[in-house]
Amino acid sequence: MLAAVPETYATAWTCLFRNLEIVPGQLLVIRGGTSSFGQAAIGLAVNAGARVIATTRDPERFGMLTALGAQRAEREEPHLSVRIAEAKRVDAVLDLVGNSTILDSLAMLRRGGRACLAGWLGGLDPIADFNPLLQMASGVYLTFFGSFVFGTPGFPLSDVPLQEIAEQVAAGRLKAEPSRVFGFEEVREAHRVMEANQAKGKMVVVNA
Ligand SMILES: NC(=O)c1ccc[n+]([C@@H]2O[C@H](COP(=O)([O-])OP(=O)(O)OC[C@H]3O[C@@H](n4cnc5c(N)ncnc54)[C@H](OP(=O)(O)O)[C@@H]3O)[C@@H](O)[C@H]2O)c1
Repeated sequence: MLAAVPETYATAWTCLFRNLEIVPGQLLVIRGGTSSFGQAAIGLAVNAGARVIATTRDPERFGMLTALGAQRAEREEPHLSVRIAEAKRVDAVLDLVGNSTILDSLAMLRRGGRACLAGWLGGLDPIADFNPLLQMASGVYLTFFGSFVFGTPGFPLSDVPLQEIAEQVAAGRLKAEPSRVFGFEEVREAHRVMEANQAKGKMVVVNA
């Protein structure tokens, strides 16, 4: 189970507490909440006292998000900022859907709010004809984080409280149990499940 922790939890922790500077009571929207990364971020943010709204494209998964501690789930869609009741009052957005939604994420923030772009579930196409003057909300912060910087001088892994995270996992305060564990000979099936959008969390392949 420990193997499933660092990539998602170290990345989610850094996005939340370094890039977004989340503090208790803040309203945070996590787009792509049912992903393994999103689930880790929901747990960390809720434990830190944030109020979390998490998104999925599938309303049947709303219960999964609220069971993780999200205050509410919303259906993921490109123009969520137009529909969400808290538009212009959101303190922070962790956007894992990516380039196709990040401008919409900026549009739901309050002045001084922050968005962190850290996932590309919606694809890697660049933001088309990005023109900040015409498309970007005023007075908000856009940040990016990629885990490939862990271990470089500005981003020591010791910055992340991995021991504390592991203790919270052991105590049941954070959920890190893999959704499924496969033997190495089942790696094709693991890919099939992932590509069919049935993973519902982190899957582990064991080479024993
Ligand atoms: N920045 C970093 O350092 C870093 C580190 C790790 C991962 N990542 C990135 O973070 C993202 C999440 O990674 P993961 O491994 O946690 O993913 P994952 O568990 O494989 O994510 C699966 C989820 O993706 C959602 N999804 C699939 N296609 C989508 C689409 N077109 N639009 C919106 N949602 C879609 C599905 O949600 P629903 O069906 O419920 O909507 C599904 O539950 C990936 O883009 C990954 O590359 C970044």
